[in-house]
Order: sequence, then C-alpha cells, then structure tokens
Amino acid sequence: MSFEPNNVLITGGAGFIGANFVRHWLDTTQQGKVVVFDALTYAGNIENLAGLDKNLRYVFVRGDICDEAVVRQLLEQHRIDTIIHFAAESHVDRSILGPDDFIRTNVVGTHSLLKAAKSLWIDQKTVAAHRFHHVSTDEVYGSLGPEDEPFHEATPYAPNSPYSATKAGADHLVRAYHETYGLDTTVTNCSNNYGPYQFPEKLIPLIIINILHGKPLPVYGDGMQVRDWLHVADHCEAIALVLRHGMSGEVYNVGGNSETTNIDLVHGLCAVVDDLVTTRDELSVAFPGAPAAEGKQAKSLVRHVRDRPGHDRRYAINFAKAKRELGYCPQRDLAAGLRSTVEWYLENAQWWQALLGREYTEWVNKNY
Ligand code: NAD
Ligand code: TYD
Repeated sequence: MSFEPNNVLITGGAGFIGANFVRHWLDTTQQGKVVVFDALTYAGNIENLAGLDKNLRYVFVRGDICDEAVVRQLLEQHRIDTIIHFAAESHVDRSILGPDDFIRTNVVGTHSLLKAAKSLWIDQKTVAAHRFHHVSTDEVYGSLGPEDEPFHEATPYAPNSPYSATKAGADHLVRAYHETYGLDTTVTNCSNNYGPYQFPEKLIPLIIINILHGKPLPVYGDGMQVRDWLHVADHCEAIALVLRHGMSGEVYNVGGNSETTNIDLVHGLCAVVDDLVTTRDELSVAFPGAPAAEGKQAKSLVRHVRDRPGHDRRYAINFAKAKRELGYCPQRDLAAGLRSTVEWYLENAQWWQALLGREYTEWVNKNY
C-alpha cells in the first residue's frame, strides 16, 4: 500500500535535520503545501531555511508544539494530511543538565500533536487519508557491547539519558495512538546524523569549528565510544520512503553503515581540515588560528575530558527491514560525507559565526 502526502506539516523544520528535510521535500515534490512549524529555540534557526521564502508552497509558522489549539488550527487551515515530526530538544548533554524542557517538548509536545491529529483525522475525518511520521533515535535502545548484534526494530527499549528516555516515551505514545485510536503512524529510529546546518554543540561541527580557531577538541573519556554516522541526506531519503511506502503502525531503523569510534572520527576531521587549510591559501588567511596555518597538526588539539555521565558505549543499526521493505540503502560514504561537510562549514562560515555569540561559548566551556 502506498500513500502520497499532499499538504505536510513539518515540526522542527528550522532545526538541523528538519531544515534539510524541508529542502529535500520541496526539491522532490511538485505540489502540496509545506508548512514548517517551529518554536525557534536556541537550536532553531530561520537562516537554515534561507532562500525558500519566495516559494509559494512554503509557509513558516513560529510556534510551540505543546500549543494544541494552534496545531489544530494549522491542520484545519492548510488541510494538512501528513505530519512529519522532528521538533525536539535533541542534545544529550543539555538533557543531563536540565531534563525538564526535554520532558515538556519531547513527551508533552508529541502528545499534543497526536491529540490534534486524532481529533481532526480520526474523530472529524477531515481528510481521506493521513499519516503521522515520528522521527526518533537509536538511543532509545540503550548501549551495545562490542560484540552485540546491532539494534533492530524489536530490540527492547533501554534508554539511559533523559533525552533518550523522553524520545522513548514519545515513541510509545505514537504506538499507542495507532493501536488504540487507529491513527496512521510510522516511526523511524535513526543513528547519529551529520551534514549541513548542524548546530555547533554537536560533535562534528564543534570539532570543525574548534580546529579552525585552534581551540581544544574535547573528547569525552577514552573516545572509544562507537556511533553509526548517517549523512542527513540519506536520512531525508529514508523518511520520504517511509512516508510513501511504510506500513501504518510500523517502525523502521535507519542507519548509515558507518560505525566509527569518536576518536577515529575526530582524527579524521583533523586530517581533512589540515589538508584543506594547507592546500587553500585563503583558508590560512581566514583562519590563522588553525594549526595547519602554522604548519602544525590539528590532532595536537585533542584533549580527553571528563566522560559524559551514563555515556552509551556503542550504537549500531540493523536497517535490513527498511532495505527489504522500502529499498533503503545509505548512499553516502563516511569519508566523502565528512569531507563535504567540512567544506560546507568552510563555505558557510557566516552561518555558524552568527551562532557563536549566542549559545556556543557556553557549550565549549561546559562541564558537568
Ligand atoms: P535540532 O535540535 O537541530 O532541531 C530541533 C528543532 O525543533 C529546532 O528547530 C527547534 O527550534 C525545534 N523545537 C524545539 N522545541 C520545540 C517546540 N516545543 N515546538 C516547536 N519546535 C520546537 O534537532 P535535530 O538534530 O534536527 O533532530 C531532529 C529530530 O531528529 C529530533 O526529534 C531528534 O530527536 C531526532 N534525531 C536526531 C539525531 C541527530 O543526530 N541529530 C539522531 C537521531 C534522531
Ligand atoms: P553528540 O554529537 O552529542 O551526539 P549523541 O550524544 O546524540 O551521540 O555526540 C556524539 C558522540 O561524541 C558521543 O559519544 C559524545 C561524544 N562527544 C565528545 O566526545 N565530545 C563532545 O564535545 C561532544 C559534543 C560529544
């Protein structure tokens, strides 16, 4: 069975993955409204959607997913038949320092969307067909040992951080709305994303920007934690497949086929930035603090710092179900994806420089 979304509401569309998805969706579809609904928290940035303003299909609305009345009004006004739900508090370290916002947005906010969707789509039958897609994380499954099988869709939930616990709560609510009320839902649990527009509190952009300034590169603990890195463009393609071809009530794991230790990832980024700064004269002028501008190596900046409490050791994803049922397979190789991501941050320095004064410094200097 296939479903073709018409008018879509994209929550969190001014964040990292949401903005990439908005661009992907506008590029790959010809009709239907694209209503972006985002509170523009510290992580949301209207600049992530720059250049889309003149598109008549695209509407941006600033608002909070916990505000059910506004959500209902948007669903009615734009005859929305599909919600793609990205909005969340997304940074594990922040959830450790202050879980309340995570519980509010990730649990209460998701429930507010579900209530509004049920009310219009199930109770009032305002559209002939509908879909509620929830974007979740592999972190709900907890932590793997080095020899454990990768997470699959039936792996028991064992969230370890306040962030992953709230995402798990949201996943369960989505499931319950399908089972109890018949809401047409799909869920994707994906691994760590990387690519353009990622807020520089997350590992990859943080490391790139710190190298460019000659600042220490904080590696938590021994740096031997393993993540499966997924290029955001592969993730967007997977979501589009699930929206159209995923079975109602089903969960799909989405991975990048790129398990890597944090320390190897950081060293890889160091090598890419060193290479680019060494070979492009304009970069050593623009970023004189970068070690390569003085003939040094960026990896000399690596500092092993106090580990994150409850730090999950390893995530790995078995995406066989998405491959078998939807034809999903990640297309971007990690080395090439990291290089293109570094190049994006170099070419878009204004984008991240505008963020540095706001929240960034606080995070570079953070400790638990
Ligand atoms: P992000 O932090 O970059 O963006 C989140 C967006 O949600 C921001 O634009 C923010 O303004 C908005 N938002 C936050 N609270 C809101 C509220 N109450 N109402 C409306 N909007 C609100 O996050 P991201 O990295 O783009 O992640 C998107 C989704 O993907 C999240 O649900 C996250 O849990 C999930 N996910 C992310 C990753 C990753 O590696 N980034 C991995 C797995 C899953
Ligand atoms: P992060 O980008 O915060 O994603 P997540 O916690 O969702 O996996 O972190 C990725 C990995 O990098 C994680 O194992 C924590 C580690 N990390 C560091 O070692 N140093 C840092 O400064 C940050 C932000 C993360």
